[in-house]
Amino acid sequence: MSSNNGRTAIVTGASKGLGAGIAKSLAEAGAAVVVNYRSDAEGAARVVADITAKGGRATAVQADVADGEDVHRLFDRARAAYGPVDVLVNNAGVGTFVPLSDITEAQFHSETTTNLLGTILTTQALAAQDDIEAASIINVSTSGTVSHPPDASLYVASKSAVNAFTIVASKELGPRGIRVNAIMPGPSDTDGTRAMGYSGSEREAQAIAATPLGRTGTPDDYGPLVAFLASDDACWITGDLILASGGLR
Ligand SMILES: NC(=O)c1ccc[n+]([C@@H]2O[C@H](COP(=O)([O-])OP(=O)(O)OC[C@H]3O[C@@H](n4cnc5c(N)ncnc54)[C@H](OP(=O)(O)O)[C@@H]3O)[C@@H](O)[C@H]2O)c1
Repeated sequence: MSSNNGRTAIVTGASKGLGAGIAKSLAEAGAAVVVNYRSDAEGAARVVADITAKGGRATAVQADVADGEDVHRLFDRARAAYGPVDVLVNNAGVGTFVPLSDITEAQFHSETTTNLLGTILTTQALAAQDDIEAASIINVSTSGTVSHPPDASLYVASKSAVNAFTIVASKELGPRGIRVNAIMPGPSDTDGTRAMGYSGSEREAQAIAATPLGRTGTPDDYGPLVAFLASDDACWITGDLILASGGLR
């Protein structure tokens, strides 16, 4: 795995699922990791315990990424614990399968505030640090922005906005040595997909059939890719959207 020795990383939404896998990989690669969560303190504590049991450094910090004051507190806590934050993984996200006719205003606000506003607020907070010489931001989008599955218009629209934000932010922040990329995971087995009834569903079977590598993803599939993008091995990559979906497109 690419080295992230000496780096300070915040992984948002790391109490479970893809974020937990990413946090563990970054710690294994040498970063001190802030495991952010919104409500699942126990899950975050388990992730921290897994990391520290293997000799890594991690601490859990509660914050709602869609709340500006929470985001300031998150960065203050991270900096106090480990110094300037030079890796940010915007993984916190929400989404549901819902037909166009049934999308509610509440769902719109929930998905756009966490997925898009959350990404904007944390990116601003990282860039507001005037004592970083370089940094890497990795936004967690979805392969749905390429495959465009039915009943996912709201979710895919919110993540497509994240893709666009990634490219524009990479242009604004590039001159400061801050790289901004996105990964686009394929459907993966997590608490989130289980809660929405995806795991074991006909929808999942169809996605597996359309996936060249022939399976659903797991939280372990993304950490090494994120560790690579966070590291100097990816020093010439910015503004890129990387599909990591077993070939589903
Ligand atoms: N699983 C998939 O198939 C899949 C595919 C493509 C992309 N993705 C994307 O990958 C990311 C993780 O998905 P997942 O399936 O691992 O999700 P998950 O199992 O539902 O976990 C979501 C995580 O995000 C946190 N979170 C949600 N809203 C938050 C907020 N406002 N502030 C801070 N944390 C918040 C949750 O915190 P608490 O539980 O502590 O409240 C939890 O740690 C999401 O961005 C999702 O859109 C997932």
